[in-house]
Amino acid sequence: MTDRRILVTAALPYANGQIHIGHLVEYIQTDIWVRFQKLRGNRTVFFCADDTHGTAISIRARAEGRTEEEVIAEMSEAHQRDFAAFGIEFDNYGSTNSPENRELCGQIWKSIREAGLVKEKDIEQLFDPEAGMFLADRFVRGTCPNSDCNAPNQPGDNCSKCGRTYSPAELVDPKSTLSGATPEIRTARHLFIELSQLHSFLDEWSQSGKHLQPEVANNLRGQFLGDPSSEEGAKELRDWDISRPAPYFGFEIPDSPGNYWYVWFDAPIGYMASTKQWCDRKGENFDDWWKSDDTEIHHFIGKDITYFHTLFWPGMLKTAGFSLPEKVHIHGFLKVDGEKMSKSQGTFVMASTYLNHLDPDCLRYFYASKLGPGLGDIDLNLEEFVNRVNSHLVGNIVNLASRSAKFVGGNTLCDEYPDDGGLFAAAAAKADLIAEYYEQCDFSSAMLEVLQLADEANRFINDRAPWKLNKDPEKAGEVREICSIVLNLFRQLAVFLQPVLPKLAEQAGELLNSPITNWEDAKTPLTGTPVSDFKHMMQRITKAQVDAMVEESKVDETADEAAASENGSQWNDGPEALEAEPMTEECTIEDFVKVDLRVARVIAAKDVPEANKLLNLTLSLGGGETRNVFAGIKAAYKPEDLIGRLVVCVANLKPRQMKFGLSEGMVCAAGPGKADVFLLDIDDGAVPGQRVH
Ligand code: MSP
Ligand code: ZN
Repeated sequence: MTDRRILVTAALPYANGQIHIGHLVEYIQTDIWVRFQKLRGNRTVFFCADDTHGTAISIRARAEGRTEEEVIAEMSEAHQRDFAAFGIEFDNYGSTNSPENRELCGQIWKSIREAGLVKEKDIEQLFDPEAGMFLADRFVRGTCPNSDCNAPNQPGDNCSKCGRTYSPAELVDPKSTLSGATPEIRTARHLFIELSQLHSFLDEWSQSGKHLQPEVANNLRGQFLGDPSSEEGAKELRDWDISRPAPYFGFEIPDSPGNYWYVWFDAPIGYMASTKQWCDRKGENFDDWWKSDDTEIHHFIGKDITYFHTLFWPGMLKTAGFSLPEKVHIHGFLKVDGEKMSKSQGTFVMASTYLNHLDPDCLRYFYASKLGPGLGDIDLNLEEFVNRVNSHLVGNIVNLASRSAKFVGGNTLCDEYPDDGGLFAAAAAKADLIAEYYEQCDFSSAMLEVLQLADEANRFINDRAPWKLNKDPEKAGEVREICSIVLNLFRQLAVFLQPVLPKLAEQAGELLNSPITNWEDAKTPLTGTPVSDFKHMMQRITKAQVDAMVEESKVDETADEAAASENGSQWNDGPEALEAEPMTEECTIEDFVKVDLRVARVIAAKDVPEANKLLNLTLSLGGGETRNVFAGIKAAYKPEDLIGRLVVCVANLKPRQMKFGLSEGMVCAAGPGKADVFLLDIDDGAVPGQRVH
């Protein structure tokens, strides 16, 4: 076994807003990875904090008639409450407005000064004389300076009508959105970090192939670093403006009175400050975690804050002599039903609103089943959410326990593990592969493996039907054997799912009176331990619960935002012309019984780019039997949404050679065609390979 030492962080949420289901993609992803590492026996710590500084907090505090400190204290509590409710467990949760952070900022700043990276420049900025503060671009609105456009009420950086970009000082008739006052142009001295001096280091670190996803490394080259070995050569890195003049809610720069560190300077240092608090509490040595080659540092962030973590932050760490991140894991953004989260549609769901209606573990599982190692966006399709939770989690996994435990409750598992035809061993042999998927943040592949193992366990219990044998007292021994097998297969799945569903793993431990404490627990069956009475583990969810959550999340947006979301509307295309049903020939019962309809699970799905309508599906019929099928459902389904789903397939269709490959079956669907094609939904409890009657 490995014994790595790993320090993990998730991005520090801003203290000016509540946690929503978009944030949760990241915190759940990171928590799963951390729990996985802990289960593997690696010494792992997970740190986070609230990001408290900057203009937005001051504006909120002012609007609420409170101090900044009052706002951030209340938010910190709310954030931690939400995280805990979703099972996200930090080793320390700090704040960037802490004495530890101020101290570390000073230390790092000193190194940057000494390295000769700081320079000063005068900057012109808009100042709101009524609010008494400098205005960030988004707090200024005015008429577009493009004389062909002159659109009123445009933001400070670019025009939403003609697309022209400009500086806020160029706006005609600018107004502060804080007070409505006309802003003045004021000149102030800012401090800059000269990043170009770090160019060769950043190039080497980011392009080493070890620390960043390939698409991120390529993007950095293209956008910022250039390629020293190419004809165009290296690009010049721009200076980074890291100070703001007073008034600003943050830390004053010790050797530059009246100037404050810009929020993005002190925010990542908050990772260290949170570590420091933990070290002081636990008697740990800070340098063992931030200055030791024996510790791997892993940051998890969303794609919107890539440059802060892949250019500025490594530059700061390097200059100040701290360890560099082993990996920066970057994820995409959450969409709901294929669109950006929207307040007016009720899809901008706060964590606390979700909790009023649904079990947090359902979201943990759903995100896990969707998260891959790349930067693609994650779609929370609400209908699919209900289906996946009900059919995968409740129907396929929890049901294994509920259908077997009741026959052995109060008794013990067999003293010797019975012959199960190799099922347990086959699943144990998958443990390393599943672990590797977790390690690579490819959680969706891990979930798919688990689901297929669950299919095999379900086939076994369905074939052996202990509920029938149980009626015959002479078969009690056989029933106990079957249930000992199924409960062990269930426990194995609970180990594989422990990082995602720690509560379920705990319940499995209680049921079989043997807690799950290590990944290796999946490799040896339990024997002779007592079986407790089955206690309910997880409940099916309903569309009505989801609808109620969406309803509660609906907020009237400003006219602006409402207009923007109208563009995406897909519901006002007018009534579809109804097509007449084609006449069909009669089919005799003898004809019909020839059709072998079977339950199948989609285990791979990809687009066929050369075809207009086709997706290429790989279907599992259980027991290792698969079919390659081309289905004309491209307009209705995205391939990634189909993976893991159960479908009805015609298993004995004569294979047909198509331009794109051999099609070995067909999936059943209903609807008039194009986007309105609906794959037949299979209820939970069905298992691949079963005949459809
Ligand atoms: N305060 C900064 C991070 C500082 S790290 C030193 C920040 N805060 S945030 O609250 O806006 O976002 C926190 C994290 O949540 C970021 O990594 C961000 O990418 C992620 N997400 C915020 N909204 C998201 C979605 N809608 N979808 C997925 N992740 C999202 O950025
Ligand atoms: Zn314009």
